[in-house]
Amino acid sequence: MSQSLTLALETSCDETSAAVVANGRTILANIISSQVPTHQKFGGVVPEIASRKHIENVIPVIDQALREAGTTLNDVDAIGVTYGPGLVGALLVGVATAKTLAFALNKPLIGVNHLEGHIFANFLAHRELKPPFVALVVSGGHTSLIHVKDYNELVLLGQTRDDAAGEAFDKIARVMNFPYPGGPHIDNAAKQGNPEAIAFPRAFASPNGENKFAFSFSGLKSAVLNYLNSASQRGEIVNIADVAASFQAAVVDVLVKKAIAAAEFVGVNKIVLAGGVAANSSLQAELASAAEKQDFALFYPPPVLCTDNAAMIACRAYYQYLIGDFADLNLNAVPSLKL
Ligand code: KG4
Ligand code: ZN
Repeated sequence: MSQSLTLALETSCDETSAAVVANGRTILANIISSQVPTHQKFGGVVPEIASRKHIENVIPVIDQALREAGTTLNDVDAIGVTYGPGLVGALLVGVATAKTLAFALNKPLIGVNHLEGHIFANFLAHRELKPPFVALVVSGGHTSLIHVKDYNELVLLGQTRDDAAGEAFDKIARVMNFPYPGGPHIDNAAKQGNPEAIAFPRAFASPNGENKFAFSFSGLKSAVLNYLNSASQRGEIVNIADVAASFQAAVVDVLVKKAIAAAEFVGVNKIVLAGGVAANSSLQAELASAAEKQDFALFYPPPVLCTDNAAMIACRAYYQYLIGDFADLNLNAVPSLKL
């Protein structure tokens, strides 16, 4: 079989990324232009600024990806793009660019769900990985358990009812004066702390009933904020490492329990971690040890493929390409796209 090249774009939040992937599994280029330094001074992503930055960066990033992959637009077989979920103005930059390329080059256009892209990052990192498995997607915007029955058959088992895990990390980090995005800073601080120092709540901790595979992190977020506020009112010095470790343990506990329960429930022996929070060292370690006890295999991507990138979008697009799941030029950004 001759080589099939997918060019993909990812602009759903604060990274402008273009990638070229061969046969769905081999990364030839994965260029990521991060806007993190731009948004840092505001303590979070400013949607309007994100859109403008994407417009500035998208063409240079595509040029660089093609150069690094040693290919040209003419040699690309399909064009994939994230069309949701994400920030509408940010998504529109990628979608409009991909549509223009597809039209001008007369190549198939493939609309990709960002969440599915995160899961597919694992196919790039682990060449032997195949469905079926259970995926835990934990990012700044999502906390979802998904049964991946086949490459093109994904079933949502449950998701957060309020904040996403990454959102909780970022909000707690912000009040602890860590720079945006705070997840990695909490992860680091927690390494010096005692995870049992403070008993923070674990919502929907037992995997049964109607909230079997649902999550909720807003109560935990309030509990940590209340703890910090009352300590400061009493003039107490808080041990930041202990707060970070105890908060992180509360998140990780629930994620691990539910991921294991979900794999048991659907009857698979593989668990796949995905999304920015998949880079969390405690989540990786705790899930690895729980999985080992059940004889489940655990997969997660390296950090660069955990956070937003276009290679994972190209991988997802390739499997849609194989079944002819093409979009037309009416493709639009869908900010709250569901699975
Ligand atoms: O997947 P991603 O790049 O963007 C979204 O699609 O949301 O995820 C970004 C999120 C942020 O909330 C960030 O704080 C979190 O991933 N994150 C982490 C770690 N690295 C990134 N959270 C906890 N521990 C980490 N090591
Ligand atoms: Zn993401």
